[in-house]
Amino acid sequence: MKIIDGKIFQTDETWNLSPAILKLLDRRLLNENSNPLYLLKQRIIGNISAVIFRGFKGIEHRYSPSVKMNLVLSDFDMFITSVCYYLRDVFLFARISQSSRKPSDTYYINESHCLRAHTSAHQHRLVQEGLNAFLVIGDVYRRDEVNRTHYPCFHQVEGVRLYSSDQLFNTVPGEELPLIENGIRTFSKQEKHSEDTTKVLEIQLKRTLESLCDALFGSKCEKRWVNAYFPFTHPSYELEVFYKGNWLEVLGCGIMEQQLLESAGVSDRVGWAFGIGLERIAMILYDIPDIRLFWSKDSGFLSQFDGKSPEDRMTYKAISVHPQVIFDMSFFLPSQIEFGDMTANVYDTIRSIGGDLIEQVTLTDEYTNKEGINSQTYRVVYRSHDRALMKEEVNIIHKKIEQKLAETYNIILR
Ligand code: PHE
Repeated sequence: MKIIDGKIFQTDETWNLSPAILKLLDRRLLNENSNPLYLLKQRIIGNISAVIFRGFKGIEHRYSPSVKMNLVLSDFDMFITSVCYYLRDVFLFARISQSSRKPSDTYYINESHCLRAHTSAHQHRLVQEGLNAFLVIGDVYRRDEVNRTHYPCFHQVEGVRLYSSDQLFNTVPGEELPLIENGIRTFSKQEKHSEDTTKVLEIQLKRTLESLCDALFGSKCEKRWVNAYFPFTHPSYELEVFYKGNWLEVLGCGIMEQQLLESAGVSDRVGWAFGIGLERIAMILYDIPDIRLFWSKDSGFLSQFDGKSPEDRMTYKAISVHPQVIFDMSFFLPSQIEFGDMTANVYDTIRSIGGDLIEQVTLTDEYTNKEGINSQTYRVVYRSHDRALMKEEVNIIHKKIEQKLAETYNIILR
């Protein structure tokens, strides 16, 4: 018996979750405000609500039994989940179960449950619940190679958009064009889709994702479409951007298999879907060199993203591998000196005496006591790029800074 993501499971001989994976399951990077993945998530949501799901009017609340929560369906339906398992019997096509459910690639809890390996796992269920446009954002788990860009847990955004005939072809009531036909499956279309259906879906899909890509990388970014294969879509594509001399794959997408929609009870709509890996994009946008950094709890990493807004452009500055040494300093300000007047002086003094050993300075507290005297506390984080600092040597520097502040600005150390 094991508890995974708050639920109890009977395990069996298929269990292959390591203690390291169980630890990852407890962390919710997408909800940590100073994680770059959170910022990117917000940026994609913001862009998609403005651009991608236009044409959806009105606000509706609908209860989703699978996530046991109310979804607000306004301009688009959004669904952020941290559910991290699914039943094996939702495997709809034999080729899906063969392609991505091998125990060598997948973390199994027991014979019927595994950690989701991609967010597409939720498409069928949500379409069945009647959603026509939604995002699924969550953590996914794969037993994969170990290197700078691969980690057993990463994060994906899945987008789905379904169209009725009048929405796709922009026709008036009574004059709808047929979406579905009984044709043949070729390299470029499904048997149930007419040429027109396929063409219009493809244009809508590609235009939508190109505009998202422009919003992320700038409209001057060079991009290209390549044909791809995914089990839930046909035809399928990948979008690549040219970055620092290489073509990089940034997303996978395609026209949803009609068989999937039909098995979810939808016969009068067609649609497209895409999946984006967040780490890959965040590494490019913020210049983050190693995927493990997203999991760092080091304030040297997190403080660089703290308080940033999703639209802020910034690049990450490498932090040292050596440990931090932290000292606080508290003092009374001379009368007549306002809080705001002192802060910049303190930062400058710390920087000029501590030099490159200073990693961060934060004002952690300020108050006025009963006598009307102002007091401040600063936290100074020291760290060297080339060696582990000793507490004693840092203490000497810290004392020097305090002395200098006392001499220059007449503060009184507490
Ligand atoms: N599920 C695919 C992956 O994990 C991405 C994808 C999503 C492709 C939706 C097509 C449509 O690689």
